[in-house]
Amino acid sequence: MDVKLGLSVLSLLSFSFLAKASSQVPLEFRFDQYDASLFSPYEDLSSLSALEYTTLGHPAFPKYQVRLKQSKEFCDGTVNAYTGYIDIEARHLFFYFFESRSNPDQDDVIFWTNGGPGCSSSVGLFMEHGPCLVTGVNVTTFNPYGWNANANIFFIDQPIGVGFSYAEYGEYVSTTEEAAKDISSFIAIFFEHFTKFKGRAFHMAGESYGGRYIPAFAAAVYDQNVHLKQAGMTPINLTSIMIGNGCSDDYSMTPTYYQMQCEPISVPPILDIATCVQMKRMLPRCEKRLQESCIDTFDTIDCDAAMNFCNSAVLDPFWSSGYNPYDISKLCDGSVSDSLCYPITKTISSYLSRPHFQKALGVDTAAQGNFSSCSDKVGIDFATHLDWAFPTPFYIGALLDRGVRVLLYVGANDWICNWLGNERMSFAIEWNGQKDFNSQALREWKVGEDVAGLTRKAGGLSFATIYGAGHMVPYDQPKFALAMVQKWLAEEDFGAGFSP
Ligand SMILES: *[C@@H]1O[C@H](CO)[C@@H](O)[C@H](O)[C@H]1NC(C)=O
Ligand SMILES: *[C@@H]1O[C@H](CO)[C@@H](O)[C@H](O)[C@H]1NC(C)=O
Ligand SMILES: *[C@@H]1O[C@H](CO)[C@@H](O)[C@H](O)[C@H]1NC(C)=O
Repeated sequence: MDVKLGLSVLSLLSFSFLAKASSQVPLEFRFDQYDASLFSPYEDLSSLSALEYTTLGHPAFPKYQVRLKQSKEFCDGTVNAYTGYIDIEARHLFFYFFESRSNPDQDDVIFWTNGGPGCSSSVGLFMEHGPCLVTGVNVTTFNPYGWNANANIFFIDQPIGVGFSYAEYGEYVSTTEEAAKDISSFIAIFFEHFTKFKGRAFHMAGESYGGRYIPAFAAAVYDQNVHLKQAGMTPINLTSIMIGNGCSDDYSMTPTYYQMQCEPISVPPILDIATCVQMKRMLPRCEKRLQESCIDTFDTIDCDAAMNFCNSAVLDPFWSSGYNPYDISKLCDGSVSDSLCYPITKTISSYLSRPHFQKALGVDTAAQGNFSSCSDKVGIDFATHLDWAFPTPFYIGALLDRGVRVLLYVGANDWICNWLGNERMSFAIEWNGQKDFNSQALREWKVGEDVAGLTRKAGGLSFATIYGAGHMVPYDQPKFALAMVQKWLAEEDFGAGFSP
């Protein structure tokens, strides 16, 4: 969740710009090894042991296996829940899977990841929209607004090195595209084994740097379907992506850092005039340098230098303002570096650090110990590879053109991945509905009698703001967030029945 913050913290560190050679072996399909008659799916999740892992492989993915156990008691209590690892040779990704509170046999499946890069999805689970929320060091509370209200949902710690995910020999994944291979393989294996979910509508969702991850992950799942079909397997029914307060596109976002703190956009200007004027003068130079070094040509050293210049121009003054970068309607509670301005994040880490809890969940001994919600190492690695500089709107446009619906939702008070930058990006996405989308006016959308925010929609693309929410929308506005997800899954128009 602390995308820019990570980069800004990173700028304090000195690290080599030399890109580390990837230690990863390409993980391609092995059709030659795949013989459908040799494969028998595990079928029934509820027959899994609660005490130890059951290990599942698949002949089409010889380098992968899934370890799963039941973990029913710890969070929701009313639904089947599972935890486990996706094993990719020496790399191991941890995940939670909760069944729907309504109709697990028919409801859609949601995949959720938090951002960072390097932050654990336990933040999404225990602070935002999980079946339970951590409310004390040893306490969770049932969350009536959990997104498993009528969907089956995954929370995944990715890439390796994040949360309870680990690698045996210290390998790291350093780009979103590398991470996407692991994710798409995992999803194929999961659906092949648990046949009751096969063909089920599948939605990939994420927050913050998830705005970079999710479009690439979804593209990998979409492209993988060709191979699945060739191998006689069932394609994944990728239906939509949902991006919450996404930092998907740095070029769209950069100028809005100025606007959000110096113009009355979501809140009155928070910086003094002298600083804002200084910033406004630097902004065109920053944009020009980003354009030249990161877009027109991609030169890693120049692009990185451009980013550093922009950071100091439009981001640095904010850090001494005392405001919460995830919610500029508030001052920071505590400190950004210690708790991201949300003391509950420390409580969550303590909760997840308890040995008893880790054992019950099946956390591998290699990943046991004090839990840290974000990995600096992963953040640095992604930054070193300039992963943030990728033109993500290309993925989003390609998904839209192939019929995958896209929801961009944004808490209106966030600064770090703010709504204005997301709106700017939404206009820049090149797809067959671009003209139509860009000509729509924003209109209000409601939950019951309450105005929840503003929305705009055309074809498969929807954009929505949420009033009274910062970066972590379900934390601030749980009721609006769940209503939004329910409307989205049901393919209802947010603004339906409401005249603009
Ligand atoms: C939490 O539980 C542990 C034992 O599991 C106990 O030692 C500790 O005091 C408890 N902490 C709080 C704040 O209740
Ligand atoms: C994919 O999911 C949608 C929405 O539930 C459904 O209408 C469609 O039939 C599914 N497609 C396949 C191939 O199962
Ligand atoms: C884990 O955290 C506890 C409490 O904050 C601390 O006393 C302990 O030294 C930490 N352990 C490790 C291995 O860092």
